[in-house]
Amino acid sequence: MVATAIDTEPMHEHVVARQGARSGLPIVVAVHSTALGPAIGGCRLAHYPHWRDGLDDALRLSAAMSDKCALAGLPNGGGKTVVALRPGMTLDGAARRAVLHDVGDVIAGLAGMYSTGPDVGTGPEDMATIAERTPYAFCRPVGAGGSGDSSEHTAVGVVAALHALCAERFGSPDLSTRSFAVLGLGRVGGHVLRMLADARATVVASDIDDSRRELAEAAGAAWARPPDCLTADVDVLVPAALGGLLTPLTVPELRCAAIAGPANNQLDEPATADVLHQRGILWAPDSIVSAGGIIHATAVELHRETSLQATARVHGIADTLTRVLRTARATGSTPADTARTHARQRIQSRHR
Ligand code: PHE
Repeated sequence: MVATAIDTEPMHEHVVARQGARSGLPIVVAVHSTALGPAIGGCRLAHYPHWRDGLDDALRLSAAMSDKCALAGLPNGGGKTVVALRPGMTLDGAARRAVLHDVGDVIAGLAGMYSTGPDVGTGPEDMATIAERTPYAFCRPVGAGGSGDSSEHTAVGVVAALHALCAERFGSPDLSTRSFAVLGLGRVGGHVLRMLADARATVVASDIDDSRRELAEAAGAAWARPPDCLTADVDVLVPAALGGLLTPLTVPELRCAAIAGPANNQLDEPATADVLHQRGILWAPDSIVSAGGIIHATAVELHRETSLQATARVHGIADTLTRVLRTARATGSTPADTARTHARQRIQSRHR
């Protein structure tokens, strides 16, 4: 192996990779850091070519959760669960229950070091199923004692971030005079689309699932194929699907002036932030923009705040983003580097 740079990243605190006793499926729980408090991060049920790819994803996503919690000012660290499904595999009711119980058992073994929540491929009902094996699951349905679906709160945070981003980039937080390309109309993307429509913004939207077209058109948005949505001539691109879409190959094709969305890990590599910077595209770090769900769930479930108080905290994402964008501009660094530095400072201050 050729080492091109010395990697000073500290290792994850705790990683469990186990074949589920009931499901036989590969389950990875990665606890990146508990320096600020118990780790939190969603449970992702997704397809991977090989389970090792799921392990890689869990490592990356859990590290991103540490930054997310630190930047949101939460007394928590980052973790993530990945269930790696083989390409094309579907889970029926009983198989889904089995794997969720397997996930619950792995989390139970961590004795509170890590709590899960919904993520790509899982929702509140799944959290209730996991909670049959361990109490460490956020966002169970309200009727089952949880704070419910977090996707709307994540979307509220995204829209707060979009106001702040537009204020910095275009000189006004007004969304009605701006155009947006929403890439991905899953649970969070669907809410963002509706909120942008309510704000009378101009929107083009897309999803790999063509059946989402109806939703887009009902909200008054134009429809595009995903590659065209990515490169649409708009003010702001809103990545709301899977991560890794911003690469040295795609960034030169972009025609937006700014980017902010809820997708986790939008950059393929940290260095892609420099490519965006050189092109004059203002990128709002996803570690800040996507924190609404976790901010709301922890405020309600851990700190016993009302949903109204929790929502006020979610709106705080606008101030956090403004601070990072202004510091980046003042210091000539990228928003990505500034956000990382802020997160690390907070995490390291607790290590000592
Ligand atoms: N998927 C959420 C995220 O990436 C994780 C989460 C949401 C965890 C809500 C707990 C509560 O932030």
